[in-house]
Amino acid sequence: MLKKLDEIKSKAIDELSGISDIKALEDWRVRYLGKKSALTQVLRGLSALPVGERKRVGASANETKDMLEAALAQKSEELKETELALALERGGLDVTLPGRPIPLGRLHPVTQILQEICDIFASMGFQVVEGPEVEWDYYNFEALNIPRDHPARDMFSTFWIDFENERGERPMLLRTHTSPMQIRIMEKTRPPVRVVVPGKIYRYEATDATHETMLYQIEGLAVDENITLADLKGTLYEFARRLFGAERRVRFRCDYFPFVEPGAEMAIDCFICGGSGCRLCSNTGWIEIMGAGMVHPGVLRGVDYDPDTYTGFAFGMGVERIAMLRYGIDDIRLFYSNDLRFLRQF
Ligand code: PHE
Repeated sequence: MLKKLDEIKSKAIDELSGISDIKALEDWRVRYLGKKSALTQVLRGLSALPVGERKRVGASANETKDMLEAALAQKSEELKETELALALERGGLDVTLPGRPIPLGRLHPVTQILQEICDIFASMGFQVVEGPEVEWDYYNFEALNIPRDHPARDMFSTFWIDFENERGERPMLLRTHTSPMQIRIMEKTRPPVRVVVPGKIYRYEATDATHETMLYQIEGLAVDENITLADLKGTLYEFARRLFGAERRVRFRCDYFPFVEPGAEMAIDCFICGGSGCRLCSNTGWIEIMGAGMVHPGVLRGVDYDPDTYTGFAFGMGVERIAMLRYGIDDIRLFYSNDLRFLRQF
């Protein structure tokens, strides 16, 4: 039996040295280590042997098996290396090929417009600041001249937060506009003030092509001595020309916001039809882009600014609306549905 094992071993090693491809190696494995191999037969027959012989033959058979397995592993490594070398020689493997590029992300279209707008105002001397999205009733309404039970509250569809104070009031909400930051900034600083405030706002709306429950606004505020309506018009005119083209004309019309007096709505002439009327401007020739006005004296008094010394202007615009105009997007919901086919276009 031991002699037989020796024979198997030397024959196997002999044959192995002549093998030069993976297929032949696999055949060799089946022949010498497979289920039907002579070696496996010896191992299977061990239990039939008398105890003394069983021990010796068993040890030798296992040793043979380990040895052949080790030789197989080494040969397999060698073959793989030669095949690689051959492939290189044949030119089948080009190690100078560039790697696969890592896909690059990009900024969301709303972020792009937001940054562009902030840059324009920054170049005119406005500072960019941000504020809280969860607000007190006081900042979102009261301090902006919209007292409790004032009908102007109906202008805003509000998400109230389920927090009750000791007087049974629920004074906390998701801000419905960025205007509360006007108050927070004036409370903390003295004139001159020149800021723009980008940020998210929330409204309790049924969503459709032009309404979302969450959107971005950019608020602007300038307060100093001698600021007049002419400064408001000049600043916003310059802004519109830089964002929508140097030939843009602007139109201001009266509008009502409780925290400004006078209040205005600003429109630009339609950049598609140039004012003759088309689908984008609903045949009016004009596109409304923001609310604005001179800061109400009551609001100034509320933050301890003397309205006889200081005046100011404020404005607020919806960023998605501007992005929609700019890129010709007809449904605001596209911005937040996270469809890469849409987002990759910007
Ligand atoms: N906060 C107003 C809105 O959300 C816009 C506005 C801002 C109007 C500043 C006038 C001055 O509708």
